[in-house]
Amino acid sequence: MTETKTFSATANVGAHRHRAFAVVVVAAGSGSRLGFGVPKAQVPVAEKSLLRWALEGVDAAGVASRLVVTVPAGDSELTATAREFGAAVVTGGASRADSVAAALAALPTAPVREGFSDTEPSAVLVHDCARCFTPGEVFANVCAALDDGEEAVIPVLPVVDTIKSVDAEGYVTGTPARSQLRAVQTPQGFNLATLLGAYEKAAQKGLAESITDDAMLAETLGIPVKTVPGSADAFKITTPLDLALAKALYEKEEK
Ligand code: C5P
Repeated sequence: MTETKTFSATANVGAHRHRAFAVVVVAAGSGSRLGFGVPKAQVPVAEKSLLRWALEGVDAAGVASRLVVTVPAGDSELTATAREFGAAVVTGGASRADSVAAALAALPTAPVREGFSDTEPSAVLVHDCARCFTPGEVFANVCAALDDGEEAVIPVLPVVDTIKSVDAEGYVTGTPARSQLRAVQTPQGFNLATLLGAYEKAAQKGLAESITDDAMLAETLGIPVKTVPGSADAFKITTPLDLALAKALYEKEEK
């Protein structure tokens, strides 16, 4: 947390020396597929909410000069947690893309976090709270590619299942070659002006509902999207099985 760690304007993560980045953490989902009865970001693992796990991960990565967190409307608990980490807090929208758009709009007025200089970040990382155990090396991989001049960067893993496309009646329409498929994680990194422009165009075209990740927007605009190695530890907590895995991994000490 900010009070126990110090940062420099360019944090040293892994082998690369990075500039500071704006970071958006989207945590405004309802968690209906998890069936816990509270917003997903509030769900505890080892007595810490998923939002706290996610923000500790962002903090440990040491690159967030400004941080914006989206929370469900009126969620004072998640708001308080986000503020502990020096984040600006905004109410999320109806879709994930609406939440990201709201967070991007709040970036210019987000406070500069303790230990960082007041330079305008030129790149932004968009991270799902649901991937709250993402290790620092994944942040480092994304930041390194942005530092190398990439405009859009996503962490990925090879796909283990055979994936089929299907039609509305459930009949298979194709089998894409598995060697060419990747499962996509977060944080996804972008040149800030590129992502702002992409969201502006998406709003004009009313695309928000169909966007499941931010890189899709870059793809539709013809911007090259670079892949870097993700991590199995960056799994997404969506279903009760995912939560059971998280508890098995992180609560085993207490059992
Ligand atoms: O629903 P899904 O698990 O795909 O959401 C991915 C991330 O986006 C989650 O961290 C969730 O909290 C966030 N989200 C959001 N606003 C929404 C929907 C999802 O911030 N309206």
